[in-house]
Amino acid sequence: MAQHPRKKSESRSRSNTNTRTATTTTTKKSSRSQPKKLWGGRFKKHTHHLVERFTSSLPFDQRLYHYDIQGSIAHCKTLHHAKVIKRHECQTIIRGLEKVLVEIQRGRFEFRNEDEDIHMSIERRLTQLIGPLGGKLHTGRSRNDQVALDLRLYVRDSIKALIAGLIQLQKAMTVQARRYQQVIMPGYTHLQRAQPVLFAHHFLAYVDMFERDKGRLTDALNRLNVLPLGAGALAGTNYPIDRSYTAKLLDFPSVTTNSLDTVSDRDFVVEVLNACSLLMMHLSRMSEEFILWSSQEFQFIEMSDSFCTGSSMMPQKKNPDVAELVRGKTGRVYGHLMSVLTTLKGLPLSYNRDLQEDKEPLFDALDTVTDSVSIYAELIKRLKVRQDVMAEAVQSGLLFATELADYLVRKGIPFREAHAIIGSLVGQCAEQKKDLAHITLPELRSHSSHFAKDALNLLTPEGAIQRKDQIGGTARRQVQSRLRILEKRLL
Ligand code: ARG
Repeated sequence: MAQHPRKKSESRSRSNTNTRTATTTTTKKSSRSQPKKLWGGRFKKHTHHLVERFTSSLPFDQRLYHYDIQGSIAHCKTLHHAKVIKRHECQTIIRGLEKVLVEIQRGRFEFRNEDEDIHMSIERRLTQLIGPLGGKLHTGRSRNDQVALDLRLYVRDSIKALIAGLIQLQKAMTVQARRYQQVIMPGYTHLQRAQPVLFAHHFLAYVDMFERDKGRLTDALNRLNVLPLGAGALAGTNYPIDRSYTAKLLDFPSVTTNSLDTVSDRDFVVEVLNACSLLMMHLSRMSEEFILWSSQEFQFIEMSDSFCTGSSMMPQKKNPDVAELVRGKTGRVYGHLMSVLTTLKGLPLSYNRDLQEDKEPLFDALDTVTDSVSIYAELIKRLKVRQDVMAEAVQSGLLFATELADYLVRKGIPFREAHAIIGSLVGQCAEQKKDLAHITLPELRSHSSHFAKDALNLLTPEGAIQRKDQIGGTARRQVQSRLRILEKRLL
């Protein structure tokens, strides 16, 4: 059977501390020359190379290196604090870890699949650099609490970066809302023209959605911001370490309270994936609108050339591929959420290797969402709104049918009855192919004697929006006040 080409390293490269800096190598050594595993004491046979490749998380967890070293330095200090290791031992280990960090950052570190994961890679290299003393680092610690720590540290930073990205996106939308504050557009339900709204009102709807996304991410952050280290493999540790001391070093406001739960808990991964899924859903809905609005049929907006792509065959094409890809990638993020939920559902306490399957979905979701948010902030900055086309689109009289019904209500007619009167008026206009905007007073009065001259003044987009003057409505006063609040907060 043909071998499927293996992904030896992650394809993405990012510029923050999460960055993967080197590739992972699989050494196809004969099992006889295989170096001893760090856990190899009780084993009589070498690990089969297929098992080595199958179990290794190094190709994807190497991006945790920075957090792994940060956690190890704090653990080392904690061991010294508890008098488990001596001061000079602590100093030598920390210096060694710092050297490993520099090696990785400079791309000089060799990631080898036989090390199994980033935790053991770093420990192996540390011991190469400082000798057997390196073996003291893992005292009172397990990879189970270590990986829980690394992941929390990673997610903590990723959430902060994502929230910062969301703020940039909200800023870009707020700036555009201000720039086009005069513009009125048709609001839609069922994708049918419904009532006029301010373009700014429409844009600020997304700003509110992103505000909720930030809230969900912050909630997840607060719940995951608890130190797991000290839980050991599952039961705690035999050493008198002070977990609050470690928590302080790593800036965790509190420590976890049950060691079994600590090493098996991945709720925070699900919470983050859930927040990412909802955020992608918002971006996807916005994408759908941008795609429609930039079509020949709508022509409401124009995306910058630098954010569109062309067709290899049709010279006239300018395609909204960024928006389409964000819409497309949404499915992938939902998939990651379902994947982790499914991985977790049958797991007994406490740590199980299945948990290693949390990382790829989590990392890919965070990468995808963070990239989507930042590309949208730039795209929106460059977006042009076709005010002329929108202005034309709100001339259609159908957008004012509700205004006429409400006029009759003000004259004392029950709303249901008013609705029916205007319904038959609209039906008649449709039959006669007449725009409601051009209706005359006698025509109005033929449907209800309550209509007077002032009813004709209702047939303007400006009047229609101005009457929606409650908190959250599209009246200029309301939108201005929301815009001012957002500008104060964001700009
Ligand atoms: N690489 C593992 C993970 O990502 C951590 C190692 C725990 N392994 C173990 N045999 N207890 O979950």
